[in-house]
Amino acid sequence: MNMHIALVPGDGIGPEIVKEAVRVLDRIASIYGHSITYTTVDAGGVSIDKYGVPLRKEALEACASSDAVLLGAVGGPKWDKVPGDKRPEKALLGLRSGLGLFSNLRPAVIYPELSDASPLKKEIIESGIDILILRELTGGIYFGKRGRSDDGKSAYDTMSYSDGEIRRIAVKAFESAMLRKKHVTLVDKANVLESSRLWRETVSEVAESYPDVTLDYMYVDNASMQLVRNPSQFDVILTENMFGDILSDEASMITGSIGMLPSASLGEGKRGMYEPIHGSAPDIAGKGIANPIATILSAAMMLRYSFSLEKEAAAIENAVKEAISDGVRTADIAEKGDSYLSTSECGDEILRRLV
Ligand code: IPM
Ligand code: MG
Repeated sequence: MNMHIALVPGDGIGPEIVKEAVRVLDRIASIYGHSITYTTVDAGGVSIDKYGVPLRKEALEACASSDAVLLGAVGGPKWDKVPGDKRPEKALLGLRSGLGLFSNLRPAVIYPELSDASPLKKEIIESGIDILILRELTGGIYFGKRGRSDDGKSAYDTMSYSDGEIRRIAVKAFESAMLRKKHVTLVDKANVLESSRLWRETVSEVAESYPDVTLDYMYVDNASMQLVRNPSQFDVILTENMFGDILSDEASMITGSIGMLPSASLGEGKRGMYEPIHGSAPDIAGKGIANPIATILSAAMMLRYSFSLEKEAAAIENAVKEAISDGVRTADIAEKGDSYLSTSECGDEILRRLV
């Protein structure tokens, strides 16, 4: 297969971790007889510095004409004073909406070997954490009307959803649940928000086509508590954009392995954008110590969802699992005081286990 991949290394540690994922993709291509063409695209702070805007039309077009996008991370303190609509994060939002990527898959899993890194007590994580957060990504308060009054002293943001926007991600949630433990929890604030009440109505309609899947509802405040009280009760969490933003940070933290978790953003077709869950980590940028595993696993998700290369995706995931069980550790997951590998050494260890 010939794959055309757009690389968006972005800011901070982005370029370092994307580099390792590309080495892994190249190795997969040579083992399994595929070819890959890469286009590198500037977006985020790096684009602000070069062109004065976070995402140029050309950058979006380059991504739109590729089969899949692999993104490192965008943003950093350097651009903190940039006005709201020109911030590096705008690049991410522009890519998501410009590419129509309405469904964001954020798995939160605990690696048994790393369970000491979880801030939760042993008895809480004993039964395992394996949650898939399905976050709506191109609607809600992130993209609703916002503004200020003329005197600038009052401001508003709007959370608005149509039933169509809800239905298409609900379908993805039920389809995902069918391949897992067949349990969807819709997280909302239906005791207060009208948009949440529309979510409940629409999702319960979609549920009728999936009689094997259990659907339950949970208010977002309770869900944030349940995630630390009893995370193993969750299988698929379906939720709107901002709740998903917040809960996915919480879910990744309780696994203790934020440097390990990948994500996929998908639309109607096969094209997707894949990125680690963590940010640009400006404090360690350029030091060569970032953990590349979340990005490498994002590349695996890309092979699975955009190219239907299940065997190749599994080969990467197995190499990572093996490396972790053999004690391969970057700084973020090493025991305090233990030595650790650099970003590229960690990449080497995963490459070595790719067969
Ligand atoms: C995320 C990030 C982004 C978001 C930011 C950088 C705009 O927090 O992907 O979770 O809020 O969606
Ligand atoms: Mg976030």
